[in-house]
Amino acid sequence: MPLRIGIILGSTRPGRRGDQIASWVLDTAHAHGGADYELIDLADHRLGNLDEGGNPNLQQYEHPHTRDWSELIDGFDGFVFLVPEYNHSFPGALKNALDYVYREWNDKAAGIVSYGGWAAGVRAAEALRLVLAELQVATVRAQPTISTHPSFHTGAFVPQEGLDTAVRGMLDQVIAWSGALRGVRETKAEAGAAA
Ligand SMILES: Cc1cc2nc3c(=O)[nH]c(=O)nc-3n(C[C@H](O)[C@H](O)[C@H](O)COP(=O)(O)O)c2cc1C
Repeated sequence: MPLRIGIILGSTRPGRRGDQIASWVLDTAHAHGGADYELIDLADHRLGNLDEGGNPNLQQYEHPHTRDWSELIDGFDGFVFLVPEYNHSFPGALKNALDYVYREWNDKAAGIVSYGGWAAGVRAAEALRLVLAELQVATVRAQPTISTHPSFHTGAFVPQEGLDTAVRGMLDQVIAWSGALRGVRETKAEAGAAA
């Protein structure tokens, strides 16, 4: 089975720049190959504020939107997070989406593409890494960054020199770790079935 990598667009606001970045990253990933890539746009998943009473660890979901989200996330081997910086962190909508489920994230790999003002979203990415560690998502080192000032100076997204190479390098790390962690999940599932 080919690896499945979900590219998660972490911005939901009207007029967001993230959709142009997502489109370009998805095209770059398809050209790169090595896995099946799919865009996960949080704006398409009307999760609302976390409205499940149970501990996500137990997976006893009450609402159809949670079950749909669970099934979607469960089907991926790894992720690429496209993360804008909002007030030196990542968007609340993304934190909410992460909090909805737990086991579905476990033992998977992720890369981060951050974007923002002159700091290019690096503080958002650092904050996201802490949360992903708790979700048992292994984040790779390579981290392409996009400063919105030069990249959107005409209004439309113009990838700066070197971004394509940086994204491809990050994808290589995500593919390698996603493959290895698929093995970890299979070993755990076999051990669970035997117990
Ligand atoms: C609520 C909000 C807070 C922001 N805070 C920061 C910030 O702390 N640092 C920064 O560099 N840019 C900040 N920005 C600029 C965004 O990173 C930039 O506008 C980016 O394009 C947002 O992504 P989006 O257009 O996909 O939503 C902020 C933007 C918004 C809307």
